[in-house]
Amino acid sequence: MTDTDQYDPQVADVYIHHLAEVSEKNEVIAREDIVSEFGVLLVAKGVAIGKKTARLLSNHRLSKPVDDFVKLSKPLSNSSLLNEFEETFQSSSDLNSIYDENRASELLRHLFLSRNFPHPLLQKLAVLKEKYPTVYQRSLFGALFGSLIAREMGWSTEGVHDVFVASIFQDLGMLHIPEGVVLKEAGFDKDQWRAMQSHVVVSSIIVESLGFYSDSVHSGIREHHERPDGLGYPKRLTENKLGSTGKIIALSDLIYRIRGRSSESDNSVSIESSMPYLRMNNRPVNQTIHAAIKLIKRGEISRIHAHTNSDIQQLAKIIVSRGDAIYNIYLKNLCLLSLLNNLVLEKTGLAMKNLVELADYTFVTTGFDFENIYEEIGSFTYSELKDIDETQIEYLWIIKRIQQSSVFFIENSVDRTLPISGFIVGRLERIFSLLAKQSMKVFEPSYSID
Ligand SMILES: [Fe+2]
Repeated sequence: MTDTDQYDPQVADVYIHHLAEVSEKNEVIAREDIVSEFGVLLVAKGVAIGKKTARLLSNHRLSKPVDDFVKLSKPLSNSSLLNEFEETFQSSSDLNSIYDENRASELLRHLFLSRNFPHPLLQKLAVLKEKYPTVYQRSLFGALFGSLIAREMGWSTEGVHDVFVASIFQDLGMLHIPEGVVLKEAGFDKDQWRAMQSHVVVSSIIVESLGFYSDSVHSGIREHHERPDGLGYPKRLTENKLGSTGKIIALSDLIYRIRGRSSESDNSVSIESSMPYLRMNNRPVNQTIHAAIKLIKRGEISRIHAHTNSDIQQLAKIIVSRGDAIYNIYLKNLCLLSLLNNLVLEKTGLAMKNLVELADYTFVTTGFDFENIYEEIGSFTYSELKDIDETQIEYLWIIKRIQQSSVFFIENSVDRTLPISGFIVGRLERIFSLLAKQSMKVFEPSYSID
């Protein structure tokens, strides 16, 4: 399936092949005779879904949804799912601190006691867990962290529950798009990108079709990849168009992704690495971000770091070296800003300009432009250095985001009827390419600090 229009829960699409694969570890059995929409018996009750059976069922339209015909020998239940949350948050020290210091256990138990999840969704979640464990883990993180944000903001029990449910099931649609697209990190072609975006709508159709949850859950799922800067997908909604549930889910998702990439700088994964992003985007104060900061700070207090002199020197070296590269990137970004200031911009163009301004603002306000920051670096504590390190990385991610949006921006925001459009496109492409070259070099694991 590559298009949302083609999603049909009764069609044995790529999902049936996932079931066959999962069946090797967690047997998937026909709970009753599997019958086509024309009443033809395809698979008898009790037969395991193996590769051969999956091929037979493939692309048949069944008399009811695929999930109604099958069962897993080791299904996810409400109580086993509760255990999985506890295990996920106890598996690393940063999440463990968040969990303990924010009384997450209390909230989780309340969420699980208040009502049960519908069986078809739990079944799909079990398949997601086996097939795409990373996506599954991200959903669990988002569900609990998002619920903690909602509770921190003083939301009603109902509202917190909606965030929880929407986050857990946000990515079930991934099970109905090509595997190659799910596993791809970047560099999508047009069809792959359309398929990736479609997982959002497919997830919402899966949940909505049950008629079990409220509109706030459905809109939360539909908005989980939108971003307040207007550069998310599928609708490129901006801050004022996003619903409250969607805002929380999108923020939790982003925090998890920032946490994941923190390992690229010093091999440790820490949720605290999202703090520079949160601080930068909390001006003026944004209630959702403010709540997230409070949760992370509470967890941070209980973590004791011990660092040697050699750790400190190594980090200082990386910061100084990266600082030079960042200065060059800043100059290119400034050229980009002056070019954008002279263009009449539409929605995508304005979103791009906001991002370029954010990069500029970050550079200036974080003190990157003061030479003495690098002269005095020898006197900084590890925690002060870590703060600069994370801010530098956040700055580079803003630049990366600018580059990622550049093709779409040039295609859609430059008025081709202007006589000078060729000149403008040429200059934009050159600046974007210089930004790409310089910032990518800094991101490379082999980046030299000598
Ligand atoms: Fe997603």
